[in-house]
Formats: sequence, structure tokens, C-alpha cells
Amino acid sequence: MENRSQWGTRLGFLLAAMGSAIGLGNIWRFPATAFENGGGAFFLPYLFALLTAGIPLLILEYTIGHKFRGSAPRSYGKISKGMEWIGWWQVAISFIISTYYPVIIAWAIMYAYFSFGQQWGADPTGFFVGDYLQLGDPGTFGGLVPSVFLPLIAVWAIALFFLGRGVKKGIEVANKIFIPTLAIIFLIIVIRAVTLDGALTGLDAFFKPDWGAITSGKVWVAAYGQIFFSLSIAFAIMITYASYLPKKSDITNNAFITGFANSSFELLAGIGVFAALGFMAVQSGQDISDVVAGGVGLAFMVFPEIISQMPAPGFFGFLFFASLVLAGLSSLISISETYIAGLQEKFNISRGKAVTFGGGIAAILSLAFATKDGLNLLDTVDHFINNYGVALAGLFEVVAIAWFAKGLKDFQNHANSISDIRLGIWWRFCLGIITPVVLGYMMLQNLKTEVTEAYGGYPIEFLFNYGWVIAIGAMFAGALFTIKKWPDNASEAQANES
Ligand code: PHE
Repeated sequence: MENRSQWGTRLGFLLAAMGSAIGLGNIWRFPATAFENGGGAFFLPYLFALLTAGIPLLILEYTIGHKFRGSAPRSYGKISKGMEWIGWWQVAISFIISTYYPVIIAWAIMYAYFSFGQQWGADPTGFFVGDYLQLGDPGTFGGLVPSVFLPLIAVWAIALFFLGRGVKKGIEVANKIFIPTLAIIFLIIVIRAVTLDGALTGLDAFFKPDWGAITSGKVWVAAYGQIFFSLSIAFAIMITYASYLPKKSDITNNAFITGFANSSFELLAGIGVFAALGFMAVQSGQDISDVVAGGVGLAFMVFPEIISQMPAPGFFGFLFFASLVLAGLSSLISISETYIAGLQEKFNISRGKAVTFGGGIAAILSLAFATKDGLNLLDTVDHFINNYGVALAGLFEVVAIAWFAKGLKDFQNHANSISDIRLGIWWRFCLGIITPVVLGYMMLQNLKTEVTEAYGGYPIEFLFNYGWVIAIGAMFAGALFTIKKWPDNASEAQANES
């Protein structure tokens, strides 16, 4: 047990946890979500969600990983036998995400290159969907697209290289390079954005509070949803990363630092994105609300347009897409480590083998998203796996632990025995009552929307095959992995590597 891999330094762990948390969700999800859910007023439910669910759950996951020193399924299994399944389910969810997430990083690599000379021309949207992705009809697949496939190989090569080198020499080193670089690049972008003409118009729109919005349940659901996704909670990630913490580690402090660093980055992204959107709106004489977008649309359709209108477009375009690449890579590494750790322990194999098998299969499956059907598939799988994977597994996690297994007291004592900030009844109340109630409500709301309208306007059969089947499949895959018994020395499987 003493031989388990460990982080080299506290900063190394923190950078890795931040690297996981700071991802595409911060850059392209937060700004639009905040804008659509009350603007400046959104910060109230958002902060509330951070303090009542985000950080408390992060503390719980850090404590579980630190206490049991195992992958998510192994650690949950030690809480109670029945919980091992939830761990594998979360690992299966992470595995699925790791088949399409790298494809977005691959696009960003190409777009960093396209920025020189603004190769998207006068119609970035048409260029992205038509020329670049060669998007076809849902369900047709239709051959690999080389300009997606080739950078995708590069993404996997980088991620698997660092994962193969282990916790300290691989994951920690990668994050020590990626995260500070990302912070610098991002600061340069934001400073440039806020000094553009029209920036204030954008910031005004972003921060203008619509206080009426916060009486709507939808806005609170959006706030909790953003916090969960953004902090990489219920992905099995934070448990895995915390399992490599040395015995003497301050859990609670680390969770607060990770949580606030992630939210600060999110706020910074909101400022940068809206300053840039303001610039574009003023340039083109449009209204801000006409140009606001989130997700893929923001990064690959709206931003190219903004970049084309900026001074020094090549330079800033490159920086913007490079920041997506760095934020994405560190999240991809974290999400892949969940199954690498799980496979290592369950099958008693070396890290090298787990990286080859787990990463190899994920890489092969990711090719499906490099076909002409890629964007349709990605959009659908992402929607279903987040709503009926991550959020649902998170609900199972807190309910199982707080209500059915040993309860939260043990974990509270464990965290308190090594941390500065003391957990009290507030922590158990947040996890035992607030979080389950909000997640349960969220689930019902999502299901209601799901049955009343076909997501994204896709054909029902397509949504069934690539949405429901995959989301529910993750649960079954999880169950399958629980059948095999742990080898006697499961905790030492990760021994002898630094
Ligand atoms: N926190 C990440 C983000 O904001 C979520 C994530 C983590 C997604 C790991 C994929 C992989 O993007």
C-alpha cells in the first residue's frame, strides 16, 4: 500500500485537479449559461451551488480517494460492496466521454493552424460544417475525415504519452506545463479582448442582472449543472486523483482552492468571451443577444468571425485555439486516468498495459467521431451522457453514501483529522439534503424536456441508438465489471512506479 503512486508535490496535485476542472466547460459553457440565466444575477445561484454542492462534494470525493487510496470503483467498494457498481458506472461514463472529447481538441489544433490566414474565409459556419467537418446526415457515418483524423492521432499520442509515464512523471509534469501556460495565454487573450472597441457593450450585457430570473427553477438547475460539470464531480476523476495524495494532505483546503480557482477561471472566461462578443456586435451593428452562443458554435463558428475582424488575427486566433487545446488535454488526461487506474487494480496489470488497452480502445472508438457524422454523434452522446450519466451517477453517489452506506460522519472525521478547515453539520446537510434534492429535481426537469421534444431535432431512432442506448449501456457496463473479484493485492497493483 505504501508503494502506491503519489504526487510529487502539493502544487502538483492542485494543478492536476485544476487541470481537470478547467476545461472546455469553463471557456465555452459558462459564459453563455450565465448570460441566458439572469446575467449578473446568475452569480447568486452559481455561488450558492458552489458552496452547497460543488465544494462539499469535492471534499467528499477527495476524502474518499485519500482514505481508501484506490480508483473510484475500488474506493466505493470499500465503503460498501454494493457501491462498487457506482464506481464502474462513473468510470464507464468517463470512458465514453474520453471517446469524443479528444475530437474537439483535434478540431482546435486544426483551427489554431487555420487562424493563420483565417482559412475559414467569409463564412466560418459554412466552412466549419461543410468544408472542414464535411457533415452528413445523422446515422450515415460516411468515412473518416482526414483533417479530423490526423490531429486526433496527435491528441491521443500526447495524452497516452503522459498517462504512460505515471502519476508524478507524467500527469503531474503535463499539468505543470499546461496549466501555467494556459493561464498566461488566457490572460493575454482577455486583456486584448477587454481593450477592443465595443468590449464594454459586451460586458454590460454579461453583467446586467435580471433579478427576476432567480425565482425560476430552471436558473437554479443551470447553476448546479454548471458547477457539477465544471468541477469534474461524479466523473470518478477527483477520487482517482485524490487516491494519489500522500497521507499528510489537507483535504478541505485543497477542495476550496480547486473550487475557487476553477470559478475564477470561469469568470475570467466570461469576461473575455463577452468583451469579444461586444466587439463583434458593434463591428457588425448587431445586438449582443444575436451573437451569443455557447459550445461548439461559440468556439468554431462565432470566434473565427471575431478573430477575422480583430487586429493581428493570426496571433490571437492561434492563442485562442491553443487555450482550448491546453484546457482540453489536461481534462482528457484526467478522465482517462479513471479507467486506467480501475483496470490496473481490477486486472492486476501494469500501468503500461492499462494505458495500452484502455487508451487504445478509447482511441479506436473515437474514430467514429472523426467521420462525416462526427458532430451529430458527438452532440447527441454528450447530451445524454451528461444528463443521464454524470448527473444521475452523482445523485446515486450522494444518496448511497449519505443515506444508505456508513453515512457521512466517518468521512467528516477523516477529513477533519488532517485538514485545517473543520467540517461540521453544514457539510452533512449540504450533501445529505440539498444536493440530492437539487439533483433529483434536475433529473425530473431534464426527463420532462426529453419526452416533450426530440433533442437537437435529431430523428428519434438516432437519439435512441446513440443517446439512450449509450447512457443506459454505461450502467450495464458498470455492472459487468463488478462481477470479477478484486485480486488480493489490488491496492498494490499500482506499486513500483513513481
Ligand atoms: N471540468 C471539465 C470541463 O469544464 C469537465 C470535463 C472533465 C470534461 C474531464 C471532460 C473531461 O470541461
